[in-house]
Amino acid sequence: MKYIIGNWKAYKTFSEAQDWMKSFISIIKKRADIQKGLEEKQICFIMCPPYHYLSFLSEQVKGMDQVFIGSQDVSVHDPGKYTGEMPAALMKDMISYAIIGHSERRSLRNETDEEIETKVSHTYAQGIEPIVCIRGADDPIPDEAGIVAYEPVEAIGTGSNMACRDVIDMKENLSLPPHMTFLYGGSVTRDNCEEYLSSPQIDGLLIGSASLDPEHFIDIAAYGITTT
Ligand code: PGA
Repeated sequence: MKYIIGNWKAYKTFSEAQDWMKSFISIIKKRADIQKGLEEKQICFIMCPPYHYLSFLSEQVKGMDQVFIGSQDVSVHDPGKYTGEMPAALMKDMISYAIIGHSERRSLRNETDEEIETKVSHTYAQGIEPIVCIRGADDPIPDEAGIVAYEPVEAIGTGSNMACRDVIDMKENLSLPPHMTFLYGGSVTRDNCEEYLSSPQIDGLLIGSASLDPEHFIDIAAYGITTT
């Protein structure tokens, strides 16, 4: 199965988020290829909006198979006196996944490897699956992690995606345990996604800019579906 994950980052007003969802649902209804991909569990969608839309989006996807909601981060803290924090326990009814250790969190918030490990434990403790982002082989992957997203910093938001062969080389270099789900992220678009999604070594994509347009996002997913 190919994971098609949209990271909206700090974009979209509430009315834009509503419009996005409306279009997403109506495009899926019209596209037999996507419906087949979802029914046959060849693909799944995970949308990761800003925190304050999690409740709305999770209501919208209720009853949709293979369509999930994720957060872009979780707090390092359990619930408590932590103004402005968002503990995993407070989101567990709304999300199935959580992006953890995104390079923008590491650089903007100086997030450490220890904090990332704690966040991974917190999410699992709440029944949420973490998607751990690494920038390269120097970033440790917590033992517990089941999904890792390789996102080279030079490819994020630059329009300069990493060649598929280099992504696969990195995967081999990481010597991941066999059960580990391996994703790529960095300037993925519908024009460059085909090779990643047809590669058996890559289990899906973490998509920033191109996920902001539902049609573009869905077009990417179509490459994860085999027609035979
Ligand atoms: P991008 O972002 O697709 O806009 O490069 C990817 C990410 O940061 O997860």
